[in-house]
Amino acid sequence: MKYPTDVLPAWIADMDLGIAPAIANDLHQRIDCGDLGYPCADLEAKFIDAFSDRYLEKFNTPLDPDLGLVSTDVVQSIVISLLTLTEPGDGVIVQTPIYPPFLHSVEDTGRNLLENALIKSNTSWEINFEELEILASDPRTKLLLLCSPHNPTGRVFTQTELVKVAQICARHNVLVVADEIHCDIVYQPNYHIPFASISPEFAVNVTTMNSATKSFNIAGLRCSVVHFGSAELKARYERYDAPVRGSISSLSLIAATTAWQKGDSWLESTLATLERNREMLSEFIRANSFGIEYLAPQGTYLGWLDFRATKAATAPGEYLLREGRVALSPGSDFGKPGAGWARLNFATQPEILEEIFDRMTSAFK
Ligand SMILES: Cc1ncc(COP(=O)(O)O)c(C=O)c1O
Repeated sequence: MKYPTDVLPAWIADMDLGIAPAIANDLHQRIDCGDLGYPCADLEAKFIDAFSDRYLEKFNTPLDPDLGLVSTDVVQSIVISLLTLTEPGDGVIVQTPIYPPFLHSVEDTGRNLLENALIKSNTSWEINFEELEILASDPRTKLLLLCSPHNPTGRVFTQTELVKVAQICARHNVLVVADEIHCDIVYQPNYHIPFASISPEFAVNVTTMNSATKSFNIAGLRCSVVHFGSAELKARYERYDAPVRGSISSLSLIAATTAWQKGDSWLESTLATLERNREMLSEFIRANSFGIEYLAPQGTYLGWLDFRATKAATAPGEYLLREGRVALSPGSDFGKPGAGWARLNFATQPEILEEIFDRMTSAFK
């Protein structure tokens, strides 16, 4: 266990809110019939079809199932795409603060990490397009690792922003890998726009990564999808062939397919809970007198909290753990701009969220 039992965990990005009954039912059925042998190819095909049907129905984005591949998890797909779509020493742009495996995967594969930090205004987090253009224009820059919606800021990028990103990448021949794992956890009036839908010409340079695991709370089952904008990109990725990439269990394929096909009413009610929790967090921050600042996320169930004006400024994660017995994700894990920040997961029961707030309050008293 990462923390002692008296610590309330509010760090790792999964939910305390159970799973959709349809998923439980289909998993039970599979176990009850005693079929836990190797998964047949048609389970993978059904999963990829469920993914492309969902992108079409929910996001109005047709994605060719023949250009999709099953993968164990999104982080694995990011690593493989860096290894196969770029060369050692190539520049890879990430928009910090960022989900830590983006940083590690670039560094661990010997690529050159280029930080295009988001800029915080009073009301939002903005992409620094001028800097993005400068970074992309270096001939050694080969790929942008886009997180959309963005973890940890919760930004849900608009069509105008994504068009600008695509134009910059097109001008400088920079490939885009778009991690859209948070696509379903978006609060109105914001809405997710798949990067692959932004420009039909540029779409051939886009690799989309996604998974039902985040929205449907089945991250422990390990199952995700990679979709390529062209057969050429897919062939490059497949140089790491199936035994190296590993294979997916039948139970995780069933759970993920069911999630996308039959999980939406559960997702809708879960989103309503998350939205209420987001409001509770906003209320807590409005009322706090310790100096914590935050912008409510447009998507994700993650609050990105600014502790720089509090007495916990140097290491807020450590401070809250020590003084409040509550575990947030330390902001410094998310790159340089995360120093003095911490990420709070609010996907829990309202009573537990209240307890987290009480502990934070007593930590600051
Ligand atoms: C942006 C992002 N990508 C990927 C993941 C992890 O996905 P997986 O478990 O499929 O590697 C997370 C988990 O929090 C995430 O926030």
